[in-house]
Amino acid sequence: MTDLKPPLLEVKNLDIAYGDVQVVFDISMVIHPQELVGLVGGNGSGKSTILRAISGMLKPRAGQILYQGQEIGGMKPHQLTDLGIAHVPMGRQLFGNMTVEENLEMGAYLPRVKPRRKASLEKVYAFFPRLQEKRKFMAGSLSGGEQQMIAIGRALMSEPTLLLMDEPSLGLAPLVVQEVMRVIDSLRELQLTVLLVEQNVRQVLKVTDRSYVLEHGRLVVEGQSSLLMENPEVKRAYLGL
Ligand SMILES: Nc1ncnc2c1ncn2[C@@H]1O[C@H](COP(=O)(O)OP(=O)(O)OP(=O)(O)O)[C@@H](O)[C@H]1O
Ligand SMILES: [Mg+2]
Repeated sequence: MTDLKPPLLEVKNLDIAYGDVQVVFDISMVIHPQELVGLVGGNGSGKSTILRAISGMLKPRAGQILYQGQEIGGMKPHQLTDLGIAHVPMGRQLFGNMTVEENLEMGAYLPRVKPRRKASLEKVYAFFPRLQEKRKFMAGSLSGGEQQMIAIGRALMSEPTLLLMDEPSLGLAPLVVQEVMRVIDSLRELQLTVLLVEQNVRQVLKVTDRSYVLEHGRLVVEGQSSLLMENPEVKRAYLGL
């Protein structure tokens, strides 16, 4: 079904280096509109590096990043936000001593979306009623799971088409991880396209449509997440089975 639509994001033969040290090797990925795609791999395998390149924080050494058919490799983060790419960074990066609402409003700084920020805020509150209840609280006083919802909500304020998420489950208790994954699953209702980066392979395979598995900067397996869950190699290496 999705194969008929042109890809929303296409990464072709991407190489990325920090200085002289190459850490991402010949990565190619395709994400179709409204797909939920996982990018999983162990510590230091290059997941965040790839996300940073897609969101404009790093310039790739070689290869192409196409968004809606347009080459975006090397564009600035704010330009990409303007095109509809939002990055929910690892560690959430909230302003702990500002209120929930102030943190959310910061997601709507671009001229493209600013005039609609009140309406966007209402949408975010409809999606996360708990954030509305706590809108006057300092962000830093909320639980880890709630803070992750603020980070997602802030990204939604920029009216994204593509949401890039870097380890949203990091540092959260198992039950809270499940809650965050349910939230990510429900982002489908908003017609969003999501690239979810995680070390937590089991959770990602449960929630996503397709996944890419990264090892030492190289893609080793890719496919439908439900099939990867049954893949003997994936089971042994990532699911501890
Ligand atoms: N700013 C940097 N300067 C130099 N090397 C870096 C930098 N950031 C990451 N690296 C290196 O690049 C490689 C990939 O790191 P990256 O952070 O992309 O991995 P990751 O898959 O996101 O890991 P994790 O799951 O721990 O977040 C690692 O070897 C790491 O040490
Ligand atoms: Mg990382």
